[in-house]
Amino acid sequence: MFSCFSCAHLCLFLDFSLFRGKYPFGDYILYSNLTFTLREVKHLWRQNGCLKKYGRHLVMRIDDFEKPTKTNALCGNWRKWPQPIIWYQGTTDAVAAQFFLKNVHPDMRNAVSELFGKPESLQSRPNVFGELMRILISPSRDVEEAVNWVIGNGGRDPDITLHMRMLMNRSVRAAQAALNCLKRAIRNLQQGSRPRAVVISDTPSFIKGITPNISEVAEVLHFDYERFRGKVSDDIKSLPSLEFRVKDWGPAPRWVAFVDFFLASRAKHAVVSGAHRRVGTTYAQLIAALAAADSIGENSTTSRFSFLSSFQGNLLAEGLKLQVGWGHVWNRFAGPLSCRGQSNQCAFTPLLPPAWWDGQWQSPIPRDIHRLEQYGIRLSGFGTVDENQIQAFCSSRKNIVKIVSFI
Ligand SMILES: *[C@@H]1O[C@H](CO)[C@@H](O)[C@H](O)[C@H]1NC(C)=O
Ligand SMILES: *[C@@H]1O[C@H](CO)[C@@H](O)[C@H](O)[C@H]1NC(C)=O
Ligand SMILES: *[C@@H]1O[C@H](CO)[C@@H](O)[C@H](O)[C@H]1NC(C)=O
Ligand SMILES: *[C@@H]1O[C@H](CO)[C@@H](O)[C@H](O)[C@H]1NC(C)=O
Repeated sequence: MFSCFSCAHLCLFLDFSLFRGKYPFGDYILYSNLTFTLREVKHLWRQNGCLKKYGRHLVMRIDDFEKPTKTNALCGNWRKWPQPIIWYQGTTDAVAAQFFLKNVHPDMRNAVSELFGKPESLQSRPNVFGELMRILISPSRDVEEAVNWVIGNGGRDPDITLHMRMLMNRSVRAAQAALNCLKRAIRNLQQGSRPRAVVISDTPSFIKGITPNISEVAEVLHFDYERFRGKVSDDIKSLPSLEFRVKDWGPAPRWVAFVDFFLASRAKHAVVSGAHRRVGTTYAQLIAALAAADSIGENSTTSRFSFLSSFQGNLLAEGLKLQVGWGHVWNRFAGPLSCRGQSNQCAFTPLLPPAWWDGQWQSPIPRDIHRLEQYGIRLSGFGTVDENQIQAFCSSRKNIVKIVSFI
């Protein structure tokens, strides 16, 4: 995916499929005309005479985050680099992007604070990924047809989404905690009409089980793909069987996850994420981010949107450190400062996943500690670092430059 095109300066989100001139999941997602494949960029570069106009070749600088000796995330001033494209490689989670917050150059740190918020304050977190998705993607026509089928012709958008990652488990406590959390979100709505709640899950029996309970307080919307007849559902038979994924992803075909995603992100007021083990999955996090971005009106700068995580007692006592994935919203709350004595929790959740530098009340996970050790930097139990160690690390190493040319 490619955005913000101008000859002088490019912003870039890279995916391997772009090298093949294709967008990822192109059958289910439409990309706005602000995005370009690299093939298109090459073409535009030539067409607009960028080499002559700006004296820049279309080259890409690679920064390999996974190798501490090859990344300039801490020590380089990326704003001064002359290459028009930077590929920040191996950055599959929020930690990589937020590494910049520890960069030695103050103007790098300031620029990054605008994107990711002030490290000390969870209140100052912009909805970066939600805003990007809102501008760059929308459902394909076929997926939208399925979404509208659930919402009903002329039906009101849902108020709330409940996402439950159950991994085929029947945990009653997870269902009870989620129901409490959902009811709390409904109380916050303060609206006259009967609320509409979308329920999505990897485990169909969960939806069946909880629908009567939710129906007492809200109208339940759910995408029953077996009953849907549309263009996208014709694809089912042509896809290879993924039976080995059932335990992890559920039995629905993959395209259903896209319908669920865009259906769930139509929620106007709240997303509740509950689970058997992993609360606030990447999937739920992105749904909440997109829904929150959409819920801000053109002329408003604040949103009353809530993203809530629902925890049953046993998860609070032992489970949070098992939360893994891109978002890993909660694994850093599993250390000495966690609330393991509570029976349930319905917690406000930042739309941008936090990482170890975000607050003194989080406990760094071993992976973060080890990652910084590779730079010779010690992370304290409160997630703080000694700035002098970073300075020392940066002055002891030389700048690594790896360039790839496209033309
Ligand atoms: C993208 O689409 C919008 C709306 O259709 C149009 O106004 C704009 O000029 C287009 N931009 C580009 C770069 O094609
Ligand atoms: C569900 O999870 C609980 C707790 O982790 C476990 O004891 C139980 O065996 C699981 N049940 C199923 C059906 O997987
Ligand atoms: C749902 O309602 C039934 C019937 O009242 C009840 O037995 C069950 O415990 C409820 N489920 C949850 C998760 O509260
Ligand atoms: C936003 O404000 C502008 C100018 O005041 C107005 O024309 C427009 O209709 C407003 N948009 C919304 C969605 O309220």
